[in-house]
Amino acid sequence: MKVLILAAGLGKRMKSKYPKVVHKILGKPMINWVVDLGTKFGEVGVVVGHKAEVVRSYLPEDVKTYLQQPQLGTGHAVMCAKDFLTPNEDILILYGDVPLLKSETIEKLQQAHKESGADVTVLTFIADDPTGYGRIIRENGKVRIVEHKDANDEERKIKEVNSGIYIFSGSFVIDNISKLKNDNAQGEYYLTDLIAMAGKVETLILDDSIQVSGVNDRVQLAQLEAVARKRILEDLMLSGVTIVDPSSTFIGPDVKVGMDTIIHPFTIIQGKTIIGEDCEIGPYTNILDSTIGNVVKIIRSEVEKTTVYDNVSVGPFARLREGTVLKEKVKIGNFVETKKSVIGKNSKAQHLTYLGDATVGEGVNVGAGTITCNYDGYKKYPTYIGDGAFIGSNSSLVAPVKIGKGAITGAGSVITEDVPDDALALGRARQVIKENWAKNKREALKDADNKE
Ligand code: UD1
Ligand code: CA
Repeated sequence: MKVLILAAGLGKRMKSKYPKVVHKILGKPMINWVVDLGTKFGEVGVVVGHKAEVVRSYLPEDVKTYLQQPQLGTGHAVMCAKDFLTPNEDILILYGDVPLLKSETIEKLQQAHKESGADVTVLTFIADDPTGYGRIIRENGKVRIVEHKDANDEERKIKEVNSGIYIFSGSFVIDNISKLKNDNAQGEYYLTDLIAMAGKVETLILDDSIQVSGVNDRVQLAQLEAVARKRILEDLMLSGVTIVDPSSTFIGPDVKVGMDTIIHPFTIIQGKTIIGEDCEIGPYTNILDSTIGNVVKIIRSEVEKTTVYDNVSVGPFARLREGTVLKEKVKIGNFVETKKSVIGKNSKAQHLTYLGDATVGEGVNVGAGTITCNYDGYKKYPTYIGDGAFIGSNSSLVAPVKIGKGAITGAGSVITEDVPDDALALGRARQVIKENWAKNKREALKDADNKE
């Protein structure tokens, strides 16, 4: 089966500079929800029109696009993608602004289509308020669809409506799509007019109509976000993840979480994130596009494009930025920032530290306030810290620089040169003691006061 997604429409009611279908639900653009669903069923094509270039920039490379300019209706959209159709393959039609359709529903539609041998199988639902939808008219064993604006009073009473999701036989569409006319209330080429032309029409009524709800404005966007969120959290809970407070937890559709992991309140996990088993995540934690092992604790921290191995602890108040890798049993504490840095097994950076472009060996202790000075305002440079090294508190490691295995840097040092293995490096002014200097100063000031 091929999958054609209609996404050329304007989306005026979003009141946005951006095309409707790139607005996000749980951090993922609507069009990508639909493309990912479609990809499970076959090759995907997308009809783009309004702000076509922007929509295209969100699509995976293997998705074909067809330009519809101007937009003259859903039938016209399919005409524009005629090259995508093949006679011997069915074509599933989806909408770019209907993000919450489930695979199970498409599987059922596909089965109904196969079993009936129909030219087209239409997914319908019963609407409490059918205003605006195409009505399903069944008479003399035939089915057709009448758009709301073209329907008479009798037809408008019908509550069974068209979801806009169909499976067509490819050859039926190829043979008939150019026969569509636009002599209707809206002057558009209606895809729905194909139904009356079909020899055999099958319908499938969907109970759970939220799946085919479209987004027209930002109120509906928030409503679907809430539905999606509940769905994902419930799936995770039923698969063995504890979510302490679903009302303050946001987890994206492509996130995977292992059994017996506990997600604490006020936590947002998005993108392509994978979290292992027996972890504790949150409270107050954001994780994006990261891979987290088993038995990892992350408290009140920001984590992005990071890989964390097993038994690591992070936070509170840590910031792990892109390219961070924390090996087994690493401890990253409060006010520590890491970027493009690999921290070896059993190493610790517990307080007030910046590690950027650094490679840290195993069993290293990075003292409080250590800073890798990786940037000279022009270029970035690497820092290497060997296994078992001890970096004294408040060391500035001016990159490029290499600290040998088992070496020590004295607290407060500015390290500008490589340190050999097992050496002590001091880079600071030697301490000077001036006996009684403070006392003498106080007395001198007191004498001056008395003279005034
Ligand atoms: C369409 C159906 C209607 C159905 C309803 C369900 C037609 C004629 N009517 O209504 O029976 O009940 O969907 O929501 O098909 N699009 C394009 N190019 C266009 C026009 C639309 O790509 O020229 C895309 C839109 O971006 C959108 C989808 O097609 O994703 C549906 O368009 P919309 O205007 O919302 O549907 P209606 O025509 O109102
Ligand atoms: Ca619509």
